[in-house]
Amino acid sequence: MTIDPSDINMDPPAIVIKNLTVSYGPKPALLDVSLSIEKGVLAGVIGPNGAGKSTFIKAILGFVKKDTGSVSILGIPAEKAKGLVAYVPQRGAVDWDFPIQVKEVAMMGRYGSIPWYRDCRKQDWELVDKALEMVRMSDFRNSQIGQLSGGQQQRVFMARALAQGSDILLLDEPFAGVDAATERAILDVLEQAKKTGRTLIVVHHDLATAAEYFDRLILIKQRVYAYGTPQAVLQEELLSEVYEGRLKIFAELAGRK
Ligand SMILES: Nc1ncnc2c1ncn2[C@@H]1O[C@H](COP(=O)(O)OP(=O)(O)OP(=O)(O)O)[C@@H](O)[C@H]1O
Ligand SMILES: [Mg+2]
Repeated sequence: MTIDPSDINMDPPAIVIKNLTVSYGPKPALLDVSLSIEKGVLAGVIGPNGAGKSTFIKAILGFVKKDTGSVSILGIPAEKAKGLVAYVPQRGAVDWDFPIQVKEVAMMGRYGSIPWYRDCRKQDWELVDKALEMVRMSDFRNSQIGQLSGGQQQRVFMARALAQGSDILLLDEPFAGVDAATERAILDVLEQAKKTGRTLIVVHHDLATAAEYFDRLILIKQRVYAYGTPQAVLQEELLSEVYEGRLKIFAELAGRK
């Protein structure tokens, strides 16, 4: 058998999704989604409540059962690519009363890379400390996670994802419930991660800042309505279809593009 070199993709996209359908009940949460996300982008996932944004993230992680379709990460089927992706869950999904220190939460990001027969090494702790420094939480290294504010907890979870060292980061509403200063700090971390070549997919519900924060947008409501630059996606017609005319800020958005 001869192999045509053009059939071998030496530089696959970060994520390729083909004909993905996911259902929890009779109505699919995601329906026939196909999308290719290139490497190195900082992409925002937008769409109304219940649109399937979290399901989209969970499907990439392999956390939900697919009815149909496939997901590949850097050219590898997602089922075999778990370590390549780091995840920061939506805040309500985490038990914050669990008695564990900040540094231990961040170290959880390393567990996938540490074989069962050895303990955390100096270099693992160095990666943890670097990640905590990046999110400006080094001073809270020994604090209990439950005793931090919501914004601080969010930053620790980002440190956990960064410590993992994965090329792809998926974050579900990292800006939810944080103040303006923390929002800025989190955005800085996302931008820094992008500069190091990572691909970031971030669920975001604030359309007013979407164009400013992201270089790609994914507009979802059960289906992917659009993927591209903010300019291409933030079109009045598309938004009014997805948000069903509930948006009154088209003019403002157009001004920010
Ligand atoms: N575990 C579940 N069991 C049953 N239905 C679910 C489950 N998780 C999500 N759904 C349903 O699937 C749809 C998509 O939910 P999803 O959480 O993905 O939306 P979302 O866009 O993230 O919403 P939000 O903006 O409120 O976070 C909704 O109709 C939701 O009710
Ligand atoms: Mg959600």
